[in-house]
Amino acid sequence: MKSIEELIKNQEVIMDSQSEETLSPNEEATLPEAEIQAQEVPGYTSDSVIELLKKSLNIHWQQTTSLSAQAVHLERWGYKKLADIIRQDAEEEHQHSMINLKRLEFFDTDYQPLMINPPVWKRHDMLAMIQYNLNSVREASVTERATIVAARAVGDEITANMMIPLLQGSENGIELYEGYLKLIEQMGLDNFLSIQV
Ligand SMILES: [Fe+2]
Repeated sequence: MKSIEELIKNQEVIMDSQSEETLSPNEEATLPEAEIQAQEVPGYTSDSVIELLKKSLNIHWQQTTSLSAQAVHLERWGYKKLADIIRQDAEEEHQHSMINLKRLEFFDTDYQPLMINPPVWKRHDMLAMIQYNLNSVREASVTERATIVAARAVGDEITANMMIPLLQGSENGIELYEGYLKLIEQMGLDNFLSIQV
């Protein structure tokens, strides 16, 4: 465990290395206008934080699309209660992707391409669909926890704090989908679906 003095000293080293990279007024004056306007925050956060933010964004992008499609599918086939919950989840994950995007824009980083994996469940296979949703929020929570740790390690408290509601959302999702799987195990899939209409 580092002492407070050591931690402060580390921060000072980071600050010194940043100031060395700062351009002199003459150098700044020779840069094209676009480069001066670009938001660059060297040393403010780490590459690993940026990569984790991109990963979190991509997971949320996939969740938004897959949950939106599931909500429409469930509504169409009469499972209105389940459809409502899944639709709310899709909206929440959309908000989370916007939060990730906002932070990545602050760091002026490229996050394309956003990748959508093909669905892993067969159409009408409700059990596999719920299992997919559970796996996805588990993957998201691992990424969000790693982002918080990496951000705190470099003193990027804003990214760490920004991630906490996202992690809370993923843990709520884990509770929800684990609960569904437990109910299905106890009452059978047919009975579970009969209370979702
Ligand atoms: Fe989320």
